[in-house]
Amino acid sequence: MSKLYKSSTRRGVLKGAAAVGLAGVFPMPTIAQAKPVKVGLMLPYSGTFAQLGENITHAIEMHVAEKGGKFGGREIQLVKLDDESKPELGLQNADRLIKRDNVDVLIGTVHSGVQMAIHKAVTESGTLCIVPNAGAVAVTRNLCAKNVFRASFSNWQPAYGMGVALGKRGVKKAAWITWDYAAGAESGEGFKQGFEANGGQVVQTLTLKFPETNFQPLLAQVPGLGVDAIGAFFAGGGAINFVKDYAAAGLKVPLVGSGFLTEGVLGPQGAAAEGVETALHYGDGLENPKNNAFRTAFKAKAGRDADVYAVQGYDSAQLLGIGLEAVKGNIDNEAALYKAMREAKIDSPRGPISFSKSQEVVQHIYLRKATGGLNKVTGIAVENLADPGTGCKL
Ligand code: PHB
Repeated sequence: MSKLYKSSTRRGVLKGAAAVGLAGVFPMPTIAQAKPVKVGLMLPYSGTFAQLGENITHAIEMHVAEKGGKFGGREIQLVKLDDESKPELGLQNADRLIKRDNVDVLIGTVHSGVQMAIHKAVTESGTLCIVPNAGAVAVTRNLCAKNVFRASFSNWQPAYGMGVALGKRGVKKAAWITWDYAAGAESGEGFKQGFEANGGQVVQTLTLKFPETNFQPLLAQVPGLGVDAIGAFFAGGGAINFVKDYAAAGLKVPLVGSGFLTEGVLGPQGAAAEGVETALHYGDGLENPKNNAFRTAFKAKAGRDADVYAVQGYDSAQLLGIGLEAVKGNIDNEAALYKAMREAKIDSPRGPISFSKSQEVVQHIYLRKATGGLNKVTGIAVENLADPGTGCKL
């Protein structure tokens, strides 16, 4: 029903344009002269992930501006909506963009729980969706869809890389600490798989509710666990508090994690983050021309340093740009649009990226160490890592 609603709305516009041309009153308008492509940005602009949403937005705006405000000859119009990282509001927020604002594309979001609501809305309506952060694995596994692409990561990827690196180094026992929601659990699963395939064992998982930050009861258990490392997934404001509390607890057990633990938050974490090792698809000190130009431009626009969230926003916009160029702005040419996006080879600030059959980004997972306020890349944990894409039949 909503798919019909959407296609007929789009076709209505183009048909109308053609009718005017046929009547001979005006010259036949080309797609380039058609109305703007409306792109909904459903992102957190408040709450623990607010800065993540802002950085994604800055970077999208940056790329649109670099292309003169147009992709494939069509003006890009951005419509922003604060999803507050609240899964319970996810469906109604996505529907507002799709049904009320009539967006052609939805770029969103950060929180995996909210992503699942977006996924339901976009798979029902057929709206093109680009995920600029949230790693919920189902989106590119059993629930994968031809109109859904992810330009960021799957929750499994960075944590898997961390597990592999730790296991290869001979660490034997670890525990996982995280928020009790999809991203925490799925990262934990990736960490466990990478670690256990390389001789380690995850003996315990400790959780607290999202977005709570009362870490003391969990940290108090660490000395009794008998582990050689603690792995963790936290992000945004929660990550700032966790890393600070971990350092203040004076634990002897090294802290590692999915790179979000120290990404974009090293400033407020200060000395507490020093030495924390993480794995992520981005890091400081990646020397490539694209990254250098990107970081300079981002700082000029946002007034702060770029981070992985900015990179993911930028690449979401690059991906859409590549698709719309291929169809010369005719977003209704879905088969050609999706093909071009699936086959895109993107020059990302993180290095070259491509897409798997399940439309998930394939990328290096870098090993980083927090040193003097930087997440310094120390090596590559896994090269060109693709999510397994289990259950996807695209
Ligand atoms: C997620 O909910 O999928 C998520 C949120 C914040 C991150 C990474 C993943 O930094």
